[in-house]
Order: sequence, then C-alpha cells, then structure tokens
Amino acid sequence: MNSMALSPLKYRHSILLIDDEEAILEIMAAMLADEGYDLLTAGSAEEGLALLKKTPDVSLIISDQHMPGMTGVQFFAQARHISPDALRVLLTGYTDTDAIIDAINSGGIHRYLTKPWSREDFLHTIRQMLGKADLMRENRRLDELVKKQNAELLDLNKGLEEKVRQKTRHLNQSLEELRSSLEKIRMILGGTVLAMSRIVESRDPYTAGHEQQVARIACVISEKLLLPVDRVEAIRIAGQLHDIGKIAVPSEILTKPGRLSPLEMEMVKTHCRNAYDILKAIEFPYPVAKIILQHHERMDGSGYPQGLKGEDILLEARIIACADVIEAISSHRPYRPAMDIDTAMKEITDHRGILYDANVVDACLDIYRTQGRQGFLS
Ligand SMILES: [Fe+2]
Repeated sequence: MNSMALSPLKYRHSILLIDDEEAILEIMAAMLADEGYDLLTAGSAEEGLALLKKTPDVSLIISDQHMPGMTGVQFFAQARHISPDALRVLLTGYTDTDAIIDAINSGGIHRYLTKPWSREDFLHTIRQMLGKADLMRENRRLDELVKKQNAELLDLNKGLEEKVRQKTRHLNQSLEELRSSLEKIRMILGGTVLAMSRIVESRDPYTAGHEQQVARIACVISEKLLLPVDRVEAIRIAGQLHDIGKIAVPSEILTKPGRLSPLEMEMVKTHCRNAYDILKAIEFPYPVAKIILQHHERMDGSGYPQGLKGEDILLEARIIACADVIEAISSHRPYRPAMDIDTAMKEITDHRGILYDANVVDACLDIYRTQGRQGFLS
C-alpha cells in the first residue's frame, strides 16, 4: 500500500487525534507532521469533544477505543452530532471486533485500525479517508454553487419577467398614443380634403356637392368589389379631390351654359394634370395624385390626358371614372337639366368594356338592380 498512488488532495484538511496515551499521540503527530495537514490533539474524549465544539470543521477524527471515562465508540456517538461531516476512524485491538462492527453498522465510525498498525497502514488509511473527505467537500462546494446559481437564476428570471412586464406596459402605452395620433391625423386629413374640395366647388356653384357625391358612389362600388379598407380610403380621398385641378380653369368656362368650344374643352381637360401637379407633393399614404390624374382615362385609350388603355389605368381611377359619369349624368348641369339614373346606367352599359371597366360596370348594375338609386347614396 502506497499513499503516493492516491490522487492529490484539492483542499487542506484538519485532523483531530485523540488518545489517552501521550506517547501514541506524539507518534501519530510525528508521522503526520510532514503531510501538510492541520493537526489537533486531545488526551481524552472529553477534551476531544471540547476541541470539536470550538473547531467543528475538521475532516477526520482518529480516536483510541480504550480510554478512561468514555470509550472511542461512545465519543464518536457524540462527536458525530458536533461534526457530522467529519470522517471517523477508531484505533483498537483485535478483541473489540464485535463492538467495532456494531459501531460501523450504526454509522458511528467509518473505518477502524487494529493495533498494532504499521506507519504505512496508518498513513495510507488517513490518506484514503482524506481523499474521501476531499470528494465530500468538493461535492458540498458544487452543491452550494449549484444552489447559489439556481437562486441567482431565479432572481434573474424574476427580474426579467418584471422587465418584460414593464416593457410590454410601455409598448402598449406607446401603441395607444400612436393610435390616438393616427386618429387625429386621419381627422386632420379628412378635414383638409373636405376644405380643399369646397374651395373648388365654391368657384362653380352648379357642381356643388359633386365631388362628395362622386366619392360616395366610388366607395360603394369599391366595397361591392370587395377592395381592402386602405384602397377604399384612397378612393374616397381621390373622389373628394378629383376635380381640384379645375381651380386653374376660368370659372366662366366652368359655369358656361351650353356647349364649350374646342379650345375651352382643352382648357377643361387640363384639370387632371393641374390636380396632379397640386397634389403630387403631398405624401398621402396612397397614390391619390396618380388616381386623379387618370380619372378621365378610358378603357379603349380614348380618354385624357395620357390616353392610357385597359389595366394601365389604375383600378381606383376606373372606379372614379364610372362614379363621375353616374353622378354627372344624374345631376343638373349649366348646359342641361338632370337626367334619370337609368340614363346613367344605360351610358355605362352601352360602353361596358369600351370606355368603362367591365367589372366596375357590372358592380354598378348590381347595386342599381338590388338597391335602386338609393344604393349609390348609402
Ligand atoms: Fe373630372
């Protein structure tokens, strides 16, 4: 048996030696002097217990069995309560075997050494026991480390949950503020669009209400075509402003009773481009300026100002074109009285797919068939 074969110890250990024979205590202490342990010695069980109470953190207790007053087994029965983690080795003679086995079974001692023991046996036993004590201490350290880290994780987790709650509260608050701001912006936009359309209408009392009405009809058609809310909103704004370019057309031409001359007609036609130039700088969330630019384009390319054809014309512009025609035909004009809405339906039916988008015309006819004139006013 060779203590050198055992792996090096990680910790420095204390050993308590107890023997009523001073000479044996001295021999044991001398054998352990150069091993790098902290040694405590006691000449009796009572003295050993007193020492343990003062320094309970010992790794190993080695006690003689035969001592006056208290045997080693009796001593260990008390010592284990003071230093439960300490390993206990009993020094005894061969004749005490039964008592020793009882003590081992009851957990009072971990190992015993029978006298006489050799120096090598003694050192090896101690080294083995300290190896075990070393592992136990390392286990305790790791156990405490895991507990500490778990507690830290738990704290961290609680902190994180609180931070997430706070962040969520702030985000919800910001979202609410954004919604409110957006609602205000929508109201301002709606008010501004209305004011702009009234400026145009104020120059031409005969068409007062025309733009609002076109916007309303165009929205009804858009909803019939199941367009998303955003596009319907774009169509509403474009409808309300579609004739804003007439601001640059002399009001004598706009209000002139009877047919316009070709030159006057050309001036009226500039209203699409005028509107585009007025509105293009405004950052609407939808292509309002472009929709208005195209509201007099026709499916066969006969419209103005660009002569676009078919699907090159924005669907929104094709819808406003139909709404514009329906509203214009069924309303009073300086050069003619209001006509019946049937005339408007006939106009779009006769030119279905030629001047006006076929799907848009079908939607209009469907609205008229099921709801009559009222269907366009809702
Ligand atoms: Fe127009």
